[in-house]
Amino acid sequence: MEPKFWHQVWKNNSIGFHQMEFHPWLKNITEEKMAANVFVPLCGKSLDMCPLAASYDGLIGAELSEIACRDFFTQAKLTPEISNNGQHQQFRFADSEVDIALLMGDYFALSPEQFNAKGGFDIFDRAAMVALPQSMRQAYVDKLRELFKHTTLFIMTLEFDQNEISGPPFCLNDTMINQYFGFATSAKLLESKLLDDKVFAQRKLKVSSLRESLYQITW
Ligand SMILES: C[S@@+](CC[C@H](N)C(=O)[O-])C[C@H]1O[C@@H](n2cnc3c(N)ncnc32)[C@H](O)[C@@H]1O
Repeated sequence: MEPKFWHQVWKNNSIGFHQMEFHPWLKNITEEKMAANVFVPLCGKSLDMCPLAASYDGLIGAELSEIACRDFFTQAKLTPEISNNGQHQQFRFADSEVDIALLMGDYFALSPEQFNAKGGFDIFDRAAMVALPQSMRQAYVDKLRELFKHTTLFIMTLEFDQNEISGPPFCLNDTMINQYFGFATSAKLLESKLLDDKVFAQRKLKVSSLRESLYQITW
């Protein structure tokens, strides 16, 4: 999807993907975490960033929409400082408890120099790769590899019959995970659940079967 599509989504507040509660599998990530910091690509205004930021030394999110970046800090009752960071505008709040920086702009324009915090980065992907059509996915994975030579990616996937609905979200199944992350040193399935109500955040998907899974992928 092009930036124009996502800007319209935020402008119209058609954000059915946004969860009103923390994801129940966050505990797996905070238990298994490998690095000092965490990167959240295509972060939206995800509430999950609050417990993640509390668990890691620093959190960096990447998000196209200014509305999403501003809403995130408003809902967290934090006042960010705004500055320039590479080709991005940075919204950052840091105190003795948390350090959260949202880089507003294009994920594909991020550079490794923006991720030089001590202790390296894990990656948390919820509704990021599934938001991208097949035509953009290889570039998404290539960018992650460019940004992080070694990392652990925690990624939530959705499996359904793509013929039943048009995306986003787009199906990301086990075969695709193995195909895109074939280069990784390990890929572990941590959780998998059939969603009987077929509800994805605030949307009920018109599909006959919906499975959500969580993988831990290391390279
Ligand atoms: C399906 S939403 C998921 C948001 C968040 N991960 C969550 O769980 O709520 C996808 C998000 O990716 C953002 N996005 C899409 N393309 C992007 C890009 N090229 N660079 C940065 N953000 C992008 C959209 O604005 C949108 O907020």
